Amino acid sequence: MKADNDLYRQLRELPAGQLWGVEVPKFNQATGKERARQVALVRAVGVVFTHCSDPALKIQVKAWLKGLLQDPEEKVRRYAMAAIPKLGEDVEAERNILTILKTSTVDREKRKAGAALEKIAGEETLKAVGAGAAGLPLSEQKVRANVARRESPATIRVDAILDRYDTLRISLRCRRGLEAVLADEVRASDTAGGKFRVLEVRGCHVVVAAKGPFSLRDLYQLRCFDTMGFGLGRVRDPEGPEAVAGLAKLIGSPLSERLMDSLTDGSWRYRLSFSGSENHDDDVAKVAAEAFKVNPRILNDAREAPWSVDVFLAPSAALAELRPKVSPDPRLTYRKAAINAASHPPLAACLARLAGRQPNEVVWDPFCGSGLELIETALLGGVKQVIGTDLNEKAIAIAKENWEAAGLEGVKSTFLTGDFRGYAEVPALVSGKLSLIISNPPLGRRVRVPNLHGLFADFFRVASATLRPGGRVIFVNPLRLESTDKTMRRDYRQEVDLGGYDCKVEMYVKC
Ligand SMILES: C[S@@+](CC[C@H](N)C(=O)[O-])C[C@H]1O[C@@H](n2cnc3c(N)ncnc32)[C@H](O)[C@@H]1O
Repeated sequence: MKADNDLYRQLRELPAGQLWGVEVPKFNQATGKERARQVALVRAVGVVFTHCSDPALKIQVKAWLKGLLQDPEEKVRRYAMAAIPKLGEDVEAERNILTILKTSTVDREKRKAGAALEKIAGEETLKAVGAGAAGLPLSEQKVRANVARRESPATIRVDAILDRYDTLRISLRCRRGLEAVLADEVRASDTAGGKFRVLEVRGCHVVVAAKGPFSLRDLYQLRCFDTMGFGLGRVRDPEGPEAVAGLAKLIGSPLSERLMDSLTDGSWRYRLSFSGSENHDDDVAKVAAEAFKVNPRILNDAREAPWSVDVFLAPSAALAELRPKVSPDPRLTYRKAAINAASHPPLAACLARLAGRQPNEVVWDPFCGSGLELIETALLGGVKQVIGTDLNEKAIAIAKENWEAAGLEGVKSTFLTGDFRGYAEVPALVSGKLSLIISNPPLGRRVRVPNLHGLFADFFRVASATLRPGGRVIFVNPLRLESTDKTMRRDYRQEVDLGGYDCKVEMYVKC
């Protein structure tokens, strides 16, 4: 095995021309035993030719690999079965692999055949499933999903109008701690004639109803939520004997079908995920198999599915939501590039909302990274000027690019590379006009800081020195450190889950 791996690593580094022109002919002339010893070549060819841009050559390579399915050496056949899917589906290969599955007496060869079919199964496998072929490791649902994915790759229709809106419960998901901000955003838009109203505020989500026909694009006018899903219903006693059937019924329900029909371009496929389950894969397999019996038009498929069914488990009930995978996020068309430690965009939008609005805002993000907080603030309107600073030159270039893409005409922008402590060299920061500092500073996790405590102490000092009276600083605080400056009054504090760890979102006002 080690020898195979070592040889594979060497061969993989060879130019494609040498592999095909020299190594493959040598392999073809070798004896059976020698071929088995050199079998790593088959793997290397599969990998190297995966992205071959010469279609004629790719056909030849595939033909060679398909020929190896008849090789007398079991090991060679096995390696060929692993390599073939890398070059795409192929009816003849599929047929031959099905034959191997039927005729082989070697378990590991059968397993490899099953694994290859998982990737390339199509109409031939479907026929075999339909004919009740014994020993097929794939379910009918899986094969149907493979075929459907290939024939009609699916996307979500963001602009389709949902006419039957009145019974829909739409769940807007957010990070823990941000529910109130999100609910506030929905209420504000409702008051301003928006299309949704708040029904309920719960942990990590806000449930809203539509006031009339709407599209997903309408929902994505709201910026503070992370993902959205349609409530399918709940099942009591998730550990009980009826739970699997109950969830399957929700997934295959007329409501599910109606939503998928209205909002999918292509096949109706969903990925199933359980949050809070200890036997995730087991639960998925059981519920998906049962749901297929309830409604075989809706297919469970982990790959490139346009929908996700998210099951949220609690001791007393399991809640199922149908989530369209809206990608790219229509709210983030400005995001041309990102940095490693970029903010979670809905968090940036929440910070911007929490800051409120003052006339003629002059806004600074001292740690602007790719610029999300400044852009989200300016998108709310009423901003005269933004200043972004960051130590990292690349981040500043990205922030500029994103800012340009956001098309925020009429707002003056300045992006500068530098330490925030050098603020005195930036005229806009010492003009006495700065009304808002908004930032997701380095939290000492993704961006390492030698003295995080010192950085935050300096941050408080600089905020006090630069803000105009009545100005605010809103930021994420990872420390138990408060401003001791008497002219800075804390106005807001909320613990927020930043994706596995808690920090505080805080706002101080300069008196
Ligand atoms: C969490 S990231 C900011 C992410 C940003 N909000 C975004 O969405 O891309 C923190 C940023 O602080 C910058 N930084 C760290 N120390 C700094 C300092 N002393 N002065 C200015 N920027 C600093 C890092 O380069 C990094 O880009």
